[in-house]
Amino acid sequence: MKTLFLLLAFSFLSIASSAREAICLDKEWKFHKGHAVNNSYDFNYRGSRLYGKTAENYGTCINPKFDDSGWEVVNLPHDWAVELPFEKHSDMSHGYKPLGAYFPANSVGWYRKTFTLPECGTTDRVSLTFDGIFRNSQVWVNNFYLGDNFSGYTSFTYDITDFVHKGEDNLIVVRVDASQIEGWFYEGAGIYRHVWLNIYDDVHFLEHGVFVTSELNDDMSSARVKVETEVESWRSSDVVGEIHAYIKSRNEKVMAEAISRDVKIEANGRCSTDITMVLDAPQLWDVDSPYMYRLETVLLSGGKELDRRVVKFGVKDVVFDKDRGLFLNGKPLKIKGVCCHQDHAGVGSALPDFLQYYRVALLKEMGANAYRCSHNPPTPELLDACDSLGLLVVDETRLTNSGREYMEQWESLILRDRNHPSIFMWSIGNEEETLQSQAAGRNIASTMMRRLRQLDPTRPATYGANNGAVTEGINEVIDIRGFNYNLGGVDPYRKARPDQPMYGSEVGSTVTTRGIYQADSVMNYLTDYDENFPPWASTAETWWTMASERDWFMGGFVWTGFDYRGEPTPHRWPNINSHFGIMDVCGFPKNVYWYYRSWWTDDDVLNVAPHWNHAGREGQIIRVWVNTNADEVSLSLNGKSLGRKKMPRNGHLLWEVPYKEGKLKAVAFKEGRKFEKTVETTGPAVSVALVPYKTVVLADGTDGTVVNVEVKDSKGRHVPDAQNLIRFSLEGDARIIGVGNGDPSCHEPDKCNEGEWQRSLFNGRCQIILQAGTHQGDIVLTATSEGLKDAMVTIRQM
Ligand code: GAL
Repeated sequence: MKTLFLLLAFSFLSIASSAREAICLDKEWKFHKGHAVNNSYDFNYRGSRLYGKTAENYGTCINPKFDDSGWEVVNLPHDWAVELPFEKHSDMSHGYKPLGAYFPANSVGWYRKTFTLPECGTTDRVSLTFDGIFRNSQVWVNNFYLGDNFSGYTSFTYDITDFVHKGEDNLIVVRVDASQIEGWFYEGAGIYRHVWLNIYDDVHFLEHGVFVTSELNDDMSSARVKVETEVESWRSSDVVGEIHAYIKSRNEKVMAEAISRDVKIEANGRCSTDITMVLDAPQLWDVDSPYMYRLETVLLSGGKELDRRVVKFGVKDVVFDKDRGLFLNGKPLKIKGVCCHQDHAGVGSALPDFLQYYRVALLKEMGANAYRCSHNPPTPELLDACDSLGLLVVDETRLTNSGREYMEQWESLILRDRNHPSIFMWSIGNEEETLQSQAAGRNIASTMMRRLRQLDPTRPATYGANNGAVTEGINEVIDIRGFNYNLGGVDPYRKARPDQPMYGSEVGSTVTTRGIYQADSVMNYLTDYDENFPPWASTAETWWTMASERDWFMGGFVWTGFDYRGEPTPHRWPNINSHFGIMDVCGFPKNVYWYYRSWWTDDDVLNVAPHWNHAGREGQIIRVWVNTNADEVSLSLNGKSLGRKKMPRNGHLLWEVPYKEGKLKAVAFKEGRKFEKTVETTGPAVSVALVPYKTVVLADGTDGTVVNVEVKDSKGRHVPDAQNLIRFSLEGDARIIGVGNGDPSCHEPDKCNEGEWQRSLFNGRCQIILQAGTHQGDIVLTATSEGLKDAMVTIRQM
């Protein structure tokens, strides 16, 4: 029996590739800016989407005969906003990028892409999936208008079967209009996520037609796995088939299987089939061990494989206990979460996949166990990174509204993402202040939750409410109460609604500038201590202490994990990005990072701030802030003791030290062990140093790595206050795709011309992002700076 099964499995595999293909169409698009108000600068575009006839597009760039040889060649993901200069008179909350009504020449972008559709079956269906375009996109294929999508965050698919030439060249044209905003933070502009060409049989699983859920038995010794499938047929006669489902381990071992026979799909019809399997001794998906199974569902008819979908999924048990807090797989888990926006230094909102993993790995290292996609549907690969590295996710729709447009966005989010094991709550939105406390808010939330129950009955709904102790409106009906700030309302609310599980959907919000220890009102820098926060928010220490002391408060999501462009609260120009991050836009830790790492991990943490390069401040008092999870710390300056102090739980230690250059040394005592940290006054920088995140990348044209840059003194010590300009050159088949330094007031470009890549350090650090080419071999990155010794690093591309 076993042998027979193996044989069958082998034969399925051998024909699997012909059954369904998903081809990434990221490479070599042509791009040109259009115009938001003047047709003649917009390639004569006059709303030609209104016409079905191909001839109507003559004179526009939609026409296949249009000559785009003068257009720029770009690869996706692409964000043209990041390449625009900073402009003082543009929108502060979007990072002072000149987009919108006053900048029509910057606000529209056209993309053209020719692709060869592989020879495939004459009846095969073909579709195009856009993971996300910011925003208001219109798409044509071979001159035929397909539709528009307003949202800058949802994924969408067009069936293009009727318009394409199989085995021949085809043309996609996309007009993107980023004149209008959707949020109050940097949103980018363009096709900033992947595009996929899908080819599949005319009898197939629907795009989101495989939904897997699992339920553990009481002692977690087995799980009941339910697979809901939906098959669609374009054939004019009925098809009788069968659906095979396999649960495979990471190493491809079949752990459970089931077959649903006599599945009848009527001509031009759809058919739903549920399959249930029992998975014995399941390995659970957990934040520490995010184990994922592969579910393969295979659709067969007459011995021929028609379709096959592979879905990664996890088995986990989540309990939201109103009194005892959150439990994951039977164990209490305090939410140590972060809210994040989606942009990163150098690349804006167009993150290559490896950068999603880089960011999630940094958060994990800090001790975070959860991520809130604030305030919009995320890029699918962000969820993949959370699935495989182990962060729980709150997946959030852009806006709380049950009108048609937003209801469709809500549905598309749930359908696209519901198989991801990392998701544990769905968020219907954030801070809709005009409706959240009203009856309309309650009604809208109820309608959205009703739809959620239909599409995913396994997870609850939440919402980021900033109305403190108010119980009316959305809070009346929402499954899990999310508190945005207003912590004074937490206890009164708990009294009023003891039945409702609660957590902080947005908490903390210390505003800091990395490596700055004296506020600067010209550059608008804030001190890098956990002390400044907007009136509605709190320090890290206040919220985390409050959450730790209350079992029923499930934890919270700090605003924010990383700085992001826009929202430079409490300042404005010359700031162009926020100060909220625990890390800056490059992912370099700020001081508060060590607070969280102290209390969120079991690592031995000891950090001393600030650095000890304060020339000219001899004798002045410097506040020395120590973060640690040790029991006691002693501090000395140049060998002279400054005292030993007991570490308050969830707190920090402070010494006021008259400055004298030299060596500041902290010794931590923890459970009978000792560890230490020294900060020293350094000499001037003499050399550049490069620290690559990875030294081996895949030669697949998409992988890549982050390389962090610093300078060192003659004793090899990192120089923390260096601001040197660093120039970069690259040999080998790879490219630099962005540079950054985390300075909230830096107006240097994130993108440079080929051969001219450079960036200043900000307080000792900057970053460059490299993307691999397709040829195997070595990539050599060289960094130079005037008067300093060069640095060189070799990355192997294979
Ligand atoms: C919150 C809001 C966030 C962000 C934050 C800044 O009220 O939900 O998106 O704007 O304030 O403090």
